[in-house]
Amino acid sequence: MHIGILTGGGDAPGLNAVIRAVVKTAIGRYEWQVPGIEDGFDGLIERAFRALRPMALQDVRGILPQGGTILGAANRGNPFARQVIRDGQKVIEDSSGLVLDRLRVAGIEALVVVGGDGTLRIAQELYEKGCLVVGVPKTIDNDLGGTDVTFGFDTALNTATSAIDKLHTTAESHHRVMVVEVMGRDAGWIALHSGIAGGADVILIPEIPFKWQVVAEAVKARSKSGAKFSIIVAAEGARPADGEQIFSHAGDGVATVARLGGIGNAVAQRLEAMTGMETRCTVLGHLQRGGGPTPFDRLLATRYGAAAVRLAAEGKFGHMVALQGQEITAVPIAEAIRIPKRVNPEGEKVRMARDMGVCFG
Ligand code: F6P
Repeated sequence: MHIGILTGGGDAPGLNAVIRAVVKTAIGRYEWQVPGIEDGFDGLIERAFRALRPMALQDVRGILPQGGTILGAANRGNPFARQVIRDGQKVIEDSSGLVLDRLRVAGIEALVVVGGDGTLRIAQELYEKGCLVVGVPKTIDNDLGGTDVTFGFDTALNTATSAIDKLHTTAESHHRVMVVEVMGRDAGWIALHSGIAGGADVILIPEIPFKWQVVAEAVKARSKSGAKFSIIVAAEGARPADGEQIFSHAGDGVATVARLGGIGNAVAQRLEAMTGMETRCTVLGHLQRGGGPTPFDRLLATRYGAAAVRLAAEGKFGHMVALQGQEITAVPIAEAIRIPKRVNPEGEKVRMARDMGVCFG
């Protein structure tokens, strides 16, 4: 069998660990060929067969601890809705037929698609058109359904938590309020977990719209009680109850998506005005996607990669590997992308943090 592999969407620590596990298992256990596809679906459409790279064992040697992806990734490559220029006009075109043709001509019989909800949505549509796909859940946001955890999340969480630890010491020295903006799109997982692990005083997440007055009161109350500094973790998708999410770039809703960003600075400015306390904002941004994966992510990504090849061997296409409890299992991709995984505002972690005095606004 020729089993192709591509990494789609934004990168996440652990992608190389998945690629390594797929290549080693497919070659070592099944004696299959593994063509790698560079730059996701975009690569296949724009560079055709030049985007294909036969993967051998020596190609994946030493990549387990490396961040990024040796295959490259593209955040804009939805073959079902590609922006192209026709007669000088921007138009949206369906190039999925081209993808299927190229896979067929290249002799790729099955495809491991490593991605978040956007990429797996594409994988599902290709599956419905006859492409034999298996999915691997990737995203630092941890917002995919069907699995307890996506790989990349633990590393992002570590990065965010160690940033909060560092901000704590300088916040305390200067008696300041420090706002940290973390990623996560419409899910508050990174903010909630890093906020709890880093001992934040206020955690703002998209699932719980916040009230300015409540946040300001919490910061003032801390100050009155003798703690002259506060740490606020704001998810990029957090929004005030009387306002909207903040975007740094607008998308066109078809070929490009709007980019969240700016809530951290907005919170810092407004709180400084409301409390009179000196406030600073740090936006962690893509630091959360960079660097080598944690041991947890290396292990998870390796288990996912090997399990994806096993799924293909069993003919279980249209499925995504998943972690449920301690077990690696498989769920239909359609089910995984149906309902995004969000923080439960009434759940145990939020309740526990509230009980310990954390303000959610
Ligand atoms: O989905 C992962 C993620 O890092 C989000 O947390 C963030 O909103 C987005 O991607 C940023 O995308 P880009 O790399 O296109 O700026």
